Amino acid sequence: MTNNYQFDVLIIGSGAAGLMSAIQLSEKLSIAVIAKDKVLEGSSYYAQGGISAVLDPEDNFESHILDTINTGFNLGSEESIRFMVEQAPLAISDLENAGVKFSHINNNYDLTTEGGHSSKRVAHVADKTGQSIQVNLLAKVKQKNNITLFEQYVAVDLLVNEGNCNGAYVFNKNTKEVGTFSSHKTILATGGASKSYLYTSNPDTSTGDGIAMAYRAGCHITNMEFTQFHPTCLFHPHAKSFLISEALRGEGAKLLLPDGKEFMHKYDSRLELAPRDIVARAIDNEMKVNGYDCVYLDISFKDANWIKSRFPTITKRCHELGIDICNEALPVVPAAHYTCGGIDTNLDAQSNISNLYAIGEVAHTGVHGANRLASNSLLECIVFAKSCAKDINESVFEEIFPAIAEWDASRVAPSKEKVVLSHLWSEIRLIMWNFVGIVRSDNRLNSANLKIQQINKEVDEYYRVYTVTDDLIELRNLAQTSKIIVESALSRKESRGLHYNQDYPNQLKKIHNTVMIKS
Ligand code: FAD
Ligand code: SIN
Repeated sequence: MTNNYQFDVLIIGSGAAGLMSAIQLSEKLSIAVIAKDKVLEGSSYYAQGGISAVLDPEDNFESHILDTINTGFNLGSEESIRFMVEQAPLAISDLENAGVKFSHINNNYDLTTEGGHSSKRVAHVADKTGQSIQVNLLAKVKQKNNITLFEQYVAVDLLVNEGNCNGAYVFNKNTKEVGTFSSHKTILATGGASKSYLYTSNPDTSTGDGIAMAYRAGCHITNMEFTQFHPTCLFHPHAKSFLISEALRGEGAKLLLPDGKEFMHKYDSRLELAPRDIVARAIDNEMKVNGYDCVYLDISFKDANWIKSRFPTITKRCHELGIDICNEALPVVPAAHYTCGGIDTNLDAQSNISNLYAIGEVAHTGVHGANRLASNSLLECIVFAKSCAKDINESVFEEIFPAIAEWDASRVAPSKEKVVLSHLWSEIRLIMWNFVGIVRSDNRLNSANLKIQQINKEVDEYYRVYTVTDDLIELRNLAQTSKIIVESALSRKESRGLHYNQDYPNQLKKIHNTVMIKS
């Protein structure tokens, strides 16, 4: 059967987490890496600001740990945070060994800062850190004969039997068929779910597939109410999802109202470098109270040549859109950026299902708590990809793959009304933006809950009768992930970090919100 495969390890996702784990796995293992789009497409490629690590002799681990705990409103796990922070310098060396050339000044790392960091500790490759990481990791993967890359293959569901994961059903976008990938170990590295929102900094791949698949398989999913809204995405009709890095504010850029007045002093003494939840809420408030479409970010007071060399990607993209950032302020708005919650994992990236691991944005390792510290995400990808690979390398592998039932397409027929999918898709994203956004209330969340439940029923019905397509797979996942986000938001009866509910403005004692599938 050409559509059915057997590998020791199946990695679903080719972002920084997926590729790093593939590189770190033993060359004795046969490995498949599948990506539902082009291999390089995913949030990792677009990361601009950088990766945080204690690299400056004046800085120290305790300070990075404390900044991470404080930004996460004390909901993060100190054990996981310490684990990640202490391995950060090694993660930087690993990336350098893979070929990443971080920006330097006078033989030292050109470290920058971002909101919530008390020291300069963000290493970067100009403003294209993610691109450099991805291109170099992919080159390493391609040098290894034991790794096979499958581009345009979409995982549909995990194969789980008696609490053990045996691989996944996978849809081949070229042949339009579903096959089986049997594996002894499966790693979910599918990224986040920010496409649940109408406005997002994320590429189209971030549809929460891994979270929805894991949920259906019986994984514990934790703290999904904490969607991080990045304060500054470019506001322009032709700029879909273009981020304006927080590193601009790290280098001194100012947020301005349309009349040129500064406003962050009204919200936080750290001004533009307050953590993201505060800056995003401040912008949201100014836009709502005053009826503005956007606010502005100004770095034009810096030397033009410096701006062009420090932020080449942003300068170029803005120039293409008719904005000269060396001479004028940029129009910006907040947009959904990062999923802090996800599949519960331990320090070895194991989920509660045996032989199923989760790494990167899809996972809840406990390092972010109620809000992610800027540039800790790429770090989490690298550190937990390595611990996951180490755990797998030390495992004993069975010789025989379990028998797996083939995909049964006999009871479905091709759909003649694909327009239903695009309507439901847009509806979900609008509901999530309007009712489950930066500022929430019980009324809005209850309303979203009813609507998202109804949409889930319609999608389930559609899935039951029509032949599976990539659009249908993503819609089903987006609908289920949105449902988990809304339910998690409704059950948190407090305001903490990224979850701000006007009906419960205060913080309770530390609680986690874990959702389990109802049998
Ligand atoms: P991704 O890189 O998103 O990769 C997901 C992979 O999974 C893709 O290959 C995709 O095709 C695949 N996939 C998904 N579903 C399926 C499926 N069903 N079947 C098969 N394959 C599937 N963080 C930082 O720390 N520093 C930064 O400077 C920074 N800047 C950012 C800038 C932008 C514009 C964005 C969007 C994010 C940024 N972040 C940053 C966050 C960070 O980039 C991401 O959290 C991180 O890269 C996620 O990596 P990942 O490997 O988990 O997922
Ligand atoms: C940015 O460059 O502003 C993004 C950094 C991050 O998401 O950590």
